[in-house]
Amino acid sequence: MTRTYSIDGYAIVSDDHCIADAAGNMPDALKNEADWAYFQAALDAATLTVVGRKGHEANPNHKNRRRLILSRSVDGLERRADGWWWNPAGCDWSTALAQAAPEGGAIAIPGGREVFDLFLALGYSSFHLARAEGTVVPGGRKLFSGLEGTTPEHLLARHGLQKDAPYWLDEAARVSMTVWRSF
Ligand SMILES: NC(=O)c1ccc[n+]([C@@H]2O[C@H](COP(=O)([O-])OP(=O)(O)OC[C@H]3O[C@@H](n4cnc5c(N)ncnc54)[C@H](OP(=O)(O)O)[C@@H]3O)[C@@H](O)[C@H]2O)c1
Repeated sequence: MTRTYSIDGYAIVSDDHCIADAAGNMPDALKNEADWAYFQAALDAATLTVVGRKGHEANPNHKNRRRLILSRSVDGLERRADGWWWNPAGCDWSTALAQAAPEGGAIAIPGGREVFDLFLALGYSSFHLARAEGTVVPGGRKLFSGLEGTTPEHLLARHGLQKDAPYWLDEAARVSMTVWRSF
C-alpha cells in the first residue's frame, strides 16, 4: 500500500535568521501569540512531530502528540513511553517514518537547527517561515547551518521550494508568514 506524506517545517526567525539565543533558549523577541496559535494548529493536524532531543526536553508533550525524537544516544529507532527515539546514523528515514507513522499524513518538523538541516537534505513539502521583523538575536542560533552570507530564503529556493505571497500573522507585532512549497 502506498502511503502519502507531507514533510512540513515550522520556524519563527529574527531578521538575522536566528531561532534561539546564544544559550540555546527561545528569546522573548521570537515569542508571538499568533505564531504560536498557527504552529499549535499545525501540530494538532499532524500525524507525527519530529523534534531534536533538547526541544523535546524543553517542551513537555502536554497534548500527548506522537513524537519522533532525534538523539545520538540511541542506536537506531527505539520506542519509549514518551515517543519514538531516532538516530539517523543507525536507521534510515523511510524506515523510521514507516514505523512511527504507518498511516501516512502530515509530518511536522519544528527543529531545532540540526533537525531543520537534516530535512532540508531529505526534502520539505512545505516550510512555514515566520519572521519577527525588526528583531535581532546577537550571537544566536541560526535556522540552518551554512547561513553565513546567505539567507534561509535562498537556501529554501536552492532546494527547489517556491514561496507563496507573504502575509502578516500579526501586523501590530510585525510578525509575517511566508509559506514555501515544493511543487
Ligand atoms: N524559533 C523557532 O522556530 C525554533 C524552532 C526550533 C527550536 N527553537 C529553539 O531552539 C532551541 C533548541 O534547538 P537546538 O537546535 O539547540 O536543539 P534541538 O534540535 O532541539 O536538539 C538538538 C539535539 O537533537 C539531537 N539531534 C539533532 N539532529 C540530530 C541528528 N541528525 N542525528 C542525531 N541526533 C540529532 C541531538 O541530541 P543528543 O544530544 O541527545 O544526541 C542534539 O543535541 C530551543 O530553545 C527551542 O525553543 C526555536
